[in-house]
Amino acid sequence: MELEITQNGMNGEGVAKINGKVYFVHGAVMGDRVTAKVIKENKNFCIAEINEILKFSCFRSVPKCKYFGICGGCNLQHIEYKKQLQIKTQNVQNLFDKNKLNFKINNCIESKNIFNYRNKLTLYLSKNNKLSFYQKNTKTLIEIDNCCLVDEIFNNLIHKINLFLSNNKEYNCFVLKGMAIRKIENNFIINLILNKKIILTKFEQFLKLNKINYSLYYCVNNRSNLPTYPCNFVGGAKEVYIEEFGIKYLLKPMSFLQVNNDIKYQIYKQIISIVKQFNNVLDAYSGAGLLSAVMAKNCKNVFAVELDESAHEACLDLCKVNKIKNLQAICGDCANEIPKLLNDNSMECIVLDPARKGCDEKVLSAILSALPKQIVYLSCNPATLTRDLKVLCESGHYELLYVQPYDMFPQTSEVETLVVLKQTNK
Ligand SMILES: C[S@@+](CC[C@H](N)C(=O)[O-])C[C@H]1O[C@@H](n2cnc3c(N)ncnc32)[C@H](O)[C@@H]1O
Repeated sequence: MELEITQNGMNGEGVAKINGKVYFVHGAVMGDRVTAKVIKENKNFCIAEINEILKFSCFRSVPKCKYFGICGGCNLQHIEYKKQLQIKTQNVQNLFDKNKLNFKINNCIESKNIFNYRNKLTLYLSKNNKLSFYQKNTKTLIEIDNCCLVDEIFNNLIHKINLFLSNNKEYNCFVLKGMAIRKIENNFIINLILNKKIILTKFEQFLKLNKINYSLYYCVNNRSNLPTYPCNFVGGAKEVYIEEFGIKYLLKPMSFLQVNNDIKYQIYKQIISIVKQFNNVLDAYSGAGLLSAVMAKNCKNVFAVELDESAHEACLDLCKVNKIKNLQAICGDCANEIPKLLNDNSMECIVLDPARKGCDEKVLSAILSALPKQIVYLSCNPATLTRDLKVLCESGHYELLYVQPYDMFPQTSEVETLVVLKQTNK
């Protein structure tokens, strides 16, 4: 069948419509005309595969990565960057419209680096002992030598680890499941994810011989899915401190850190400009506390709630090292802690930055009881973001003031969105 592709959807797929039926076409770009074969048919939509491209869209660009189309991570790499930004803006707007959040959102802000921007990768070991990514939504491992989302020094390390693994077969996928590598300045924090505990002397020697600035950790995790803590220190720099926004902070192997430094900087600056008018700010899902600390420099009191113990400890350390007295870090589940903290109605503003699944219902209902003046919501998942915003706006107590998507993840269909809500005067 012949299809005219008119947009690209939430997962990067081309979208066409015929007689009210929607066709999602993997690898197609808006502006393409293709012949396609339906591989799955539902009542209202079909999944189709391209047979032939009859007309190439003018928005197509040549993918830089040799794994494009196989790995599935960079599902927009075949689309020129300006168009990627428009697609993200449109997709977020569509979700707002679908949820009847009647608001015109801003255009997606571009990233300074559109490749080489990531500071962290999680890689797995294939049966051939090579570092690999999981192909999106499958259990298939794609072996890689490099990734164009990280920089040259990072790729050099990937190359060297692959060499090491090919010569040291005792580090195989039955023992070593994978590793999370984070590069900050020129330091690498490497967390080896093991199926069972082993001696890691050889791996550490390899890092030393190659003059890598490393902190080496391991965790034993024999569940099928990662994440990966508790982490155990093996060797190298025990404490890696870095300084941003005038705050010195300790990097822990697995505590959350935004992956794109440029966009993180832009978002944090914007959040500060919003919250600095308030005395008491509650930072929910606060991670290792960098944003909380920057807010504490600009507000009277900040309360930071985080579930992960190691991130919470990093936040306590940050307060000590930077002599910050007006930031109170609380370790716990936001679902339990936020209702308590909002109880006396003293919080004027709450900052929400939850993981992909969005806010717990108890957090939203606590907000709707206490009614802080403003809500700042940062989200990496527009679907759960709009779900939560709908609850807040439909209560009649809040209205949207500002919606700004940011391109935290160029070449992929992922998008970060910053939203500000203010209390209505009802
Ligand atoms: C997207 S990160 C935000 C981190 C921080 N705002 C930043 O910019 O670095 C989400 C954080 O929420 C934490 N988290 C997840 N579920 C939570 C819960 N139920 N209660 C508290 N924190 C939670 C995660 O450990 C993670 O650090």
